[in-house]
Amino acid sequence: MILIRKFQPRDFAGVIEIEHEQFSEHDPYLYMSLYELNADTFFVAEDQGTVVGFVAGITAVGEHQVYCRVFSIAVREAYQRLGVGTQLMKGVIAAFHQKNIRDIVLEVRSHNLSAVRFYQRLGFVVTGMEYGYYNDGEDAILMRHKG
Ligand SMILES: CC(C)(COP(=O)(O)OP(=O)(O)OC[C@H]1O[C@@H](n2cnc3c(N)ncnc32)[C@H](O)[C@@H]1OP(=O)(O)O)[C@@H](O)C(=O)NCCC(=O)NCCS
Repeated sequence: MILIRKFQPRDFAGVIEIEHEQFSEHDPYLYMSLYELNADTFFVAEDQGTVVGFVAGITAVGEHQVYCRVFSIAVREAYQRLGVGTQLMKGVIAAFHQKNIRDIVLEVRSHNLSAVRFYQRLGFVVTGMEYGYYNDGEDAILMRHKG
């Protein structure tokens, strides 16, 4: 059975392994600082002691308001399409709502249309594009959730 729970420092190696498996850009140290600054919105999915997915949410102060951002989410290949990502997203959205922040934003690589569909099913809508957003020059699709 999959357990969704808060990230603990002992999960670090598992999260980094998934980051390497799923993303082309890597920054392991980032995840420790995400935990230090945003522990309330950093969740992992665990299956019998093994980390099989994670979601890292951050809170930031914008020009006019505090807003939340889903910084990163990934699920191990073998566990995808089983509902784990949906459970992780529901967990992070609920944690943001508990902080009374209902405006949640995220960015997705423009080629990653299956992730865009995944977020749309969770209530996110496309709000725009940011050209050349990623280090390799790929554009980002911007999405927002108003709960
Ligand atoms: C995007 C991502 C996090 C989604 O996680 P996931 O655990 O696969 O998500 P879910 O299983 O909750 O939902 C994804 C799909 O599985 C389907 N699904 C969910 N439960 C299912 C089940 N029990 N049986 C069959 N299909 C199911 C959903 O309908 C959805 O289908 P679709 O993609 O065809 O529209 C995952 O695919 C991933 O890690 N991708 C690589 C990293 C990435 O792109 N991250 C997002 C950008 S930052």
